[in-house]
Amino acid sequence: MADDHVPGVACAPSPSGSPSLVSRVMRSVPRQGLRRTIENAAVAVEDALFDAVLGVETSAPVELDGLSISSPNRHLGVSYVPTRVRAFRMLMRRLGLPYGGVFVDFGCGKGRALFAAASHPFHRIVGVEFAPELCEICRRNVDAFRCRRRGRAVFEIVEADAANYAVRDDENVFFFFNPFRDAVMVSVLRNIDASLRRRPRRVWLIVNNPRDLEAAFRSRDWLMRVDEYAYGSSLFWIYSNVSTVSKTRARYQS
Ligand SMILES: C[S@@+](CC[C@H](N)C(=O)[O-])C[C@H]1O[C@@H](n2cnc3c(N)ncnc32)[C@H](O)[C@@H]1O
Repeated sequence: MADDHVPGVACAPSPSGSPSLVSRVMRSVPRQGLRRTIENAAVAVEDALFDAVLGVETSAPVELDGLSISSPNRHLGVSYVPTRVRAFRMLMRRLGLPYGGVFVDFGCGKGRALFAAASHPFHRIVGVEFAPELCEICRRNVDAFRCRRRGRAVFEIVEADAANYAVRDDENVFFFFNPFRDAVMVSVLRNIDASLRRRPRRVWLIVNNPRDLEAAFRSRDWLMRVDEYAYGSSLFWIYSNVSTVSKTRARYQS
C-alpha cells in the first residue's frame, strides 16, 4: 500500500541483524535533517509504547486479502496500517478544534486513531470499518481502553462500507488515513454534503497521506484546503467548508 510511513532511514544491518540506533540516526540526519530525524524517533517511541500503555492491540498491520469483507468496494480498500500516533496528536493540538463535536474515522481498523482522538473532549467517537474481523478487534480494544482510561468519550464502532455510511447531523470532524480509493471517497463526500444541506455547520476533514485522494476533494466546491501539517514522515491536509482566512466567503457558518 502507499501509506505515509515512509521509513525515516534506510539502515545497514548491525552485526545482530537489525540496524543499531546510532547507525540509523547517522544515516537519517543527512537525508532528512535533524528535525525530521528527531520527529521520526519520537514517532517510533510513541508508537511502540501506545498499545502497552493503553492495553490495546493496534500495531500489527493486516492485509485485507484474508478477511471476510462482503462489500463490492473491497478491491478499492487499503490494508490496515495504524496512524502514527504522535503526529496525529500534534496535529490535534495545533488544530484547536472546538470542545464537543463528533469525530468519525472512515476505515478505523483496530481503532488507533479513535483512542488518540479521545484526548480531545469529543461527545462521541465513531469508527466506520468494513472488515468484520477488524471491527471485532476494535471493539475489544474499546473495552480495554475504557478499563484504563475512564474518559467521557462515547465510542461507537459501525461495521459498514464507508460509501454507505449515513453521516449524522452532529458529526463534524472526519478523519481519513489512506483508507480507500477515490471512488469510495466521492460517495463519502456526497454523504457529508447531504448532511450539511440538512444541517449547515462547520466541519473539518483531516486527511493523512492526502495525495491519492486529492481529486475527490477537488470535486467538491464547498471544500477548501485550510491547513497542511507535516510531522516526521506523516503529512496531513485539512479541509473545511469554512475558510480560516475569509469566513465571509464560506457557505456554511459554524
Ligand atoms: C490505513 S488503514 C487506517 C486505519 C485507521 N484509520 C488508523 O488511522 O489507525 C485503512 C482501513 O480502512 C478500511 N477500509 C478500506 N476500505 C473501506 C471501506 N470502503 N469502508 C470501510 N472501511 C474501509 C480497511 O479495512 C483498513 O482498516
